[in-house]
Amino acid sequence: MSAAEKAARPFDLVVYGATGFTGGLVADYLMRTMPEGGSWALAGRSREKLDAVAARLAEARPDAPAPGIVLADTENPASLEAMARQTRVVLTTVGPYLEYGEPLVAACVAAGTDYVDLTGEPEFVDRMYLEYHEAAVASGARLVHACGFDSIPHDLGVYYTMKQVPEGVPVAVYGAVHSNAQFSGGTFHSAIGQFARLREAGATARERRKQEGRPEGRRVKAAPTKPHHDATLNRWLVPLPTIDPQIVLRSAAALESYGPDFSYAHYASVGSPVTATVGMVGVGAIAAGSRVPFLRSQMLKRIDRGQGPSESRRARSSFTVTFVAIAGGRKIITRVSGGDPGYTETSMMIAESAMCLAFDDLPPLAGQLTTARAMGDALLERVERGGLTFEVLSA
Ligand SMILES: NC(=O)c1ccc[n+]([C@@H]2O[C@H](COP(=O)([O-])OP(=O)(O)OC[C@H]3O[C@@H](n4cnc5c(N)ncnc54)[C@H](OP(=O)(O)O)[C@@H]3O)[C@@H](O)[C@H]2O)c1
Repeated sequence: MSAAEKAARPFDLVVYGATGFTGGLVADYLMRTMPEGGSWALAGRSREKLDAVAARLAEARPDAPAPGIVLADTENPASLEAMARQTRVVLTTVGPYLEYGEPLVAACVAAGTDYVDLTGEPEFVDRMYLEYHEAAVASGARLVHACGFDSIPHDLGVYYTMKQVPEGVPVAVYGAVHSNAQFSGGTFHSAIGQFARLREAGATARERRKQEGRPEGRRVKAAPTKPHHDATLNRWLVPLPTIDPQIVLRSAAALESYGPDFSYAHYASVGSPVTATVGMVGVGAIAAGSRVPFLRSQMLKRIDRGQGPSESRRARSSFTVTFVAIAGGRKIITRVSGGDPGYTETSMMIAESAMCLAFDDLPPLAGQLTTARAMGDALLERVERGGLTFEVLSA
């Protein structure tokens, strides 16, 4: 795919899933922030629902240019490929990604189109690496998963922290996440789907490790974790097995600037040992229940897809991720913070990621990439302008 051919496409970016809860927030954000001359489109499988989103946007911003409309259904691969060939970047909020994601990745790889998503599903990311990384390198497509709360604050938070530590020395970093937010139906369904497939996810991860190998001449590893009281932060820390530490370690493996010997550990930060215990027991019970088909269907009935926290609930939500880096005899503490992590900030982060790929001057890379590797400083500046705070608390 030549650069001229790609530049001639009608859209800079397309929002696939614009009729969903998060996709609707992404569309609102782009309507406010798309640069002059930028062209974009709302995409989904229902013309009627897409027209309703377009009408809502036009009412809120009658002065802004209207986005285009593209019909594409995950069940119809030709419609996905036609969509991928009309744009330079596809932003997708159609999840759970393990259920719906692969045909779109395949279409973007075939069309040499850049791709961003909101997955927090490690098995999906590993499967896409195994199936499409090499083909994406060949076609020039950048596949950047986890462009929401999973995992931008963590990936760019560690990237920012590494700018504060002395160069060329071993570094041990741990991150501690705290939030008071609520999740949507789509996120709940994705989480239950993942819990039900932990065995398959483990096998795919092992296969990936075999194929990907390790960085040459440098050590990058996950540090062992256990629940404990952390004297530096004066908080109880509980191991948090999300996709975030995997993404951080992938960035560390790809970026020499993370030094000769890098380790990372990831935790939830809570105020008391009772909260820590209740949280671990609750998540353990949901994970165990997800593997029993009857219990799984009962849990999924409790929250419908398409629903999420109200605007007033989101306005009361916030998050912090605090990082402690121990390097060269120093302890450096940094923090990333923002408002409602799952939706308000997530829609900003994925929209900024898509605009970053579409409009910024970035390293000439292709294949599956993390946000820090693909976009680094350019995305850091964008999400800071979008409202996240990155700060050094102690150096
Ligand atoms: N990692 C994070 O930080 C984070 C944060 C927020 C959300 N998420 C993830 O984002 C995803 C979306 O969440 P949500 O709450 O926005 O979900 P949602 O409201 O249920 O929206 C899902 C979207 O997918 C579309 N869709 C479903 N099946 C389709 C198909 N066959 N073809 C085309 N489109 C189809 C739906 O279209 P219709 O309207 O036509 O049904 C809708 O637009 C979930 O996987 C969630 O886990 C992740």
